[in-house]
Amino acid sequence: MLDEMNEVQADLAQLIRLALAEQTEDVRLFVARLVRKYRNTDPELAEQMDLYLRAKASRTSAPMRKVVSPAPSTQPLPVDDESRLSLLKVFKDEPDREQPLLAPDLEETLSQLIQERRQIKRLASMGLNPTRSAIFVGPPGVGKTLTARWLASQLGMPLYVLDLTAVMSSLLGRSGSNLRAALDFAKQSPCVLLLDEIDAIAKRRSDDTDVGELKRLVTVILQEVDEWPATGVLLAATNHAELIDPALWRRFDLVINFKAPEIPAVKQAIKRFLGPDYAMFGRWIDILTFTFNGESFSDIERDLQRFRRAIALGTASDADLIEELVKSRALALERQSRIDLAVLLAKQTRLSQHSISDITGVSRDTIRKYTNEQPAAAKKTSKGKLNA
Ligand SMILES: Nc1ncnc2c1ncn2[C@@H]1O[C@H](COP(=O)(O)OP(=O)(O)OP(=O)(O)O)[C@@H](O)[C@H]1O
Ligand SMILES: [Mg+2]
Repeated sequence: MLDEMNEVQADLAQLIRLALAEQTEDVRLFVARLVRKYRNTDPELAEQMDLYLRAKASRTSAPMRKVVSPAPSTQPLPVDDESRLSLLKVFKDEPDREQPLLAPDLEETLSQLIQERRQIKRLASMGLNPTRSAIFVGPPGVGKTLTARWLASQLGMPLYVLDLTAVMSSLLGRSGSNLRAALDFAKQSPCVLLLDEIDAIAKRRSDDTDVGELKRLVTVILQEVDEWPATGVLLAATNHAELIDPALWRRFDLVINFKAPEIPAVKQAIKRFLGPDYAMFGRWIDILTFTFNGESFSDIERDLQRFRRAIALGTASDADLIEELVKSRALALERQSRIDLAVLLAKQTRLSQHSISDITGVSRDTIRKYTNEQPAAAKKTSKGKLNA
């Protein structure tokens, strides 16, 4: 027993020595020897080492060998070898999650995807597979991650999110095995796997010297998209469609475009994000919609959450908040939009033309011209304050 321990210790010491000297090739050979050595005395350890070895070897020798994985329940979440941080974020949501705000065409595409899963047997009886993979493309904060989460909840599956920026920031030599570990884990049981910020690989490729390693990472993903089991769904998300390898692009069953919300969606978003406080802000809806137009859902949500906190604590009135918001946005607008905003403010608030002119930078003459008003002084009473 003591002898055996000493031998394990000696092997460990040798392994550490080689690893710290960054003699990767020697580490690999040594581990291969250890796999053979421990196969009989400690099959579990041998198997584990073999897995690591194959993940490592697969990057130098395409085509990849399939890893035989143990049963799902026995498998813990994969972690980064060095930091021990979990590689995957897990979401297990109830199916009653609120649906994200989605453009009509997008909603249709997703509902088809859900139907396919609900009627998977019917499809199978006709020799058809359900959609297995999709890539979400769009600017930040418009609901890509949120939709992945909702979709998983609708399918009654857990969502695992693999942030590729995090994978890529691990030592380059480890990115490959980290990626493999996460993919292998996700393939074992029905789930939705989201490869978030998949452009991280491409970005890294353009400013890194180790091009070979990155190509192999792309190869790993290419192959996975092709072979993803129909029991699960593989999703990817990116802000940068232009950075995605065309070969990768082609392999997804679906390309789903997320866009910044348009006017009706902005309006809906304002209603949703204000929740019970909508009653109070309802009268500003046109001004809010105008001001938030062109912004992402998450930016809109952030401002409205701030409003709600201020109202809850009584630190500002709704009119103050609106005025401050409009001020912060107005000067960045194009001239015509500033005029439109000025007109809207003139019609829907009791701000004086003087204040509106201050806020929007549009002259009082122009405001008068557009609102077809007499140059009257009737609105002077509540100068400087919004007060509907
Ligand atoms: N379509 C939407 N419907 C409702 N809320 C949304 C929507 N899009 C974004 N939000 C709000 O904004 C937050 C951030 O959205 P999400 O993380 O899904 O954006 P994303 O598109 O994944 O952005 P990124 O590209 O930066 O990862 C969500 O948690 C949600 O509160
Ligand atoms: Mg996201």
